[in-house]
Amino acid sequence: MAFHLFKKSTEPRPIFAALGTDMHCHLIPQVDDGSKCIEESIDCLRTLQAVGYKKVFVTPHFCSRFPNEEDDIKQRYEQLCQVADAAGITIEMAGIAGEYRVDSIFRARLDSPRFFQVAGKYVLIELSLHQQMMDADDLIFDMQTRGYDLILAHPERYPYLNIDGPRIEQFLNQGILLQVNILSLGGFYGEEARRRAFAIIERGWVSFLGSDTHNTLYCQALRDLSRSRKIEKLLEKHQFMNNTL
Ligand SMILES: [Fe+2]
Repeated sequence: MAFHLFKKSTEPRPIFAALGTDMHCHLIPQVDDGSKCIEESIDCLRTLQAVGYKKVFVTPHFCSRFPNEEDDIKQRYEQLCQVADAAGITIEMAGIAGEYRVDSIFRARLDSPRFFQVAGKYVLIELSLHQQMMDADDLIFDMQTRGYDLILAHPERYPYLNIDGPRIEQFLNQGILLQVNILSLGGFYGEEARRRAFAIIERGWVSFLGSDTHNTLYCQALRDLSRSRKIEKLLEKHQFMNNTL
């Protein structure tokens, strides 16, 4: 029928094949504020596949709210891989990393280092989303003096981090790599985060894009964004390091 000829497609498009690897998502079920069950994780993996990803690192939170244990995370990850395989998921499960919040329990982790790293190379860190922690810069500096290469997750989402101020440039000068959330570009976290995400990408400051997928709500937003010509153009214009992982 003619109606169908003019109906706008709602199918996801594989535009994130340009990145290849998703290095930030919360798909180990029931360990943080991400996926609530293994079925939801599998649904999310199907979406990551549908929008073009070939490889994924899962990055559970490690913070005072979610003080995860490494052995438990490993066990749950193995189970996820088995179920994904049985469900016919073809995206490569590339391993566990962590999203480490620089908070009150971070110092203890630093004193007895145990970090799941992205591709065995980088520690993904995040700051408080609400207020600047007083000794965050000291902890970050301590990490670096111990030889860790750092990626700062979603700098566009910290309202107190002025993207026109000295602190973010200081991070860059210290060799900290920045990762923007893809969904920020679609306004998922509000207009201010969207504006800041585009601005720092345009300045060439951003090394990685991450989906930061937590659940099926994020997946729907990711599928919607995969049909955006603007995002496709951005991926053509800018080089990111995701495909080096
Ligand atoms: Fe995250």
